Amino acid sequence: MTTPPSTPLVTLRELGPGEYDVLDAVVAGLSPDSRVRRFLGPVPELAPAVRDALAAVDGRRHLAVAAFAGGRPIGIARLVGEEPGRAELAVEVVDAWQGRGVGSRLARAVLDRGREAGFTTVVADVLAENPAARGLARALFPGLSGRPEGTEIAFTADLTAHEPSRAVANAA
Ligand SMILES: CC(C)(COP(=O)(O)OP(=O)(O)OC[C@H]1O[C@@H](n2cnc3c(N)ncnc32)[C@H](O)[C@@H]1OP(=O)(O)O)[C@@H](O)C(=O)NCCC(=O)NCCS
Repeated sequence: MTTPPSTPLVTLRELGPGEYDVLDAVVAGLSPDSRVRRFLGPVPELAPAVRDALAAVDGRRHLAVAAFAGGRPIGIARLVGEEPGRAELAVEVVDAWQGRGVGSRLARAVLDRGREAGFTTVVADVLAENPAARGLARALFPGLSGRPEGTEIAFTADLTAHEPSRAVANAA
């Protein structure tokens, strides 16, 4: 299938530390509802400490991959190590690009990096009323069922039990 001429090419690259411009652009493209889904609560703007923490990737314990369309940041997937071998996955795609496969590509790419970095277990907490995140979890880990915890669902997946991603093959 070819990309329609009006659709900018989507490229992925790993983020380095302190790329606030990419982080800010992606957060700016999230609607209030998407921010609630991403941060599990209302976030009109990132608190300075949260912004600093999200920009503090180190390529080992905190990994992040960003997507760009026509050079503009449109999404980020990150893994943050919680304890040896175990990391939390979080993904956000600007509203204008949701539902077009960007979240899947980002997540697969960062999970690949996570395997390389030695993570064996990935966890994610998503709102029960977040069909896109649940769809993404199903797409990434077929057969995985989450554990209901109040208004959230906690997913835990064994990174070693799944095939390497298609992200590299699909990356444009
Ligand atoms: C959740 C999110 C990251 C998914 O990224 P996306 O680019 O929109 O999703 P994709 O297009 O890659 O779709 C991923 C899978 O979910 C499914 N999906 C996407 N949107 C869906 C929806 N609204 N309802 C049901 N399934 C959906 C897709 O069909 C796809 O599955 P498939 O590969 O089997 O077809 C994105 O919607 C987002 O940023 N939402 C706001 C923030 C958030 O909720 N983050 C997750 C919590 S950390």
